[in-house]
Amino acid sequence: HKKIVIPSLSFFQNELKGEGVVKSRRTLGELAGIFENQDAYSQLPLDQLAYEVYSYLPEREGTPGGLYFGITQLYPGKVGDEYFMTKGHFHQQEDRSEYYWGLEGEGMLILMDRERNTWAERMMPGSLHYIPGGVAHRVANTGNSVLSFAACWPSDAGHNYEEIANKGFSARLVEVNGTPKLR
Ligand code: F6R
Ligand code: ZN
Repeated sequence: HKKIVIPSLSFFQNELKGEGVVKSRRTLGELAGIFENQDAYSQLPLDQLAYEVYSYLPEREGTPGGLYFGITQLYPGKVGDEYFMTKGHFHQQEDRSEYYWGLEGEGMLILMDRERNTWAERMMPGSLHYIPGGVAHRVANTGNSVLSFAACWPSDAGHNYEEIANKGFSARLVEVNGTPKLR
C-alpha cells in the first residue's frame, strides 16, 4: 500500500512541531480602507481576527527557484454587503504567478489585470486557480464557515500591497439577494 499524505495536514503537523512555518494574522483594524461601507466597518471591533496565513519555504529565503507553500484561513463575516476578504496584492516582481486551491468552505477569488479588468472565480474544496503574472488577487469568504485555501508561489515574488490599498480593484464583490455579485 502506498501511504496517502494529505499535504495540508502534514503541513499543520509540521507547524505544531515548530519547524519553520511562519504564522501571520490580520485583524479587521489592519484592513482599514478596503471596505466601501465605512459606517458598518466602524461598528466592528478593530481587534477581531479576519484571517491567518501559515507560510513555509523549504529553502533559504530568496533562493532562486524556491517555492513558498501557504495556507490562508479566512473567517466568515460581512462589512455592509461586502464579505470579509484578504487585503489583495500584485506581486512585487510583476511577472511572478501563483496557484491557489480551495481546501474548505466557500469563497470567490477576485482577480484584476493591468488594464484594471476584474473578474472572479468560485472557490470550493478542490477548486484550482492559476493566477498569472501581472494579475492582482484577493479572496472573499462568501460562506458561513471558515474558508481555507492553499497557495504556492515563487520565493522571489514579493508583495505589492500599495497599489490595491490606494486604488482598490475596479469592481467590488457584494451580496445581492443572498448571492455574490461583482459590482
Ligand atoms: C502569496 C499569496 C497568499 C496571500 C494570503 C493573504 O503571494 O497570495 O499567501 O498572501 O492569502 O492575502 P494578502 O497577502 O493579500 O493579505
Ligand atoms: Zn500572491
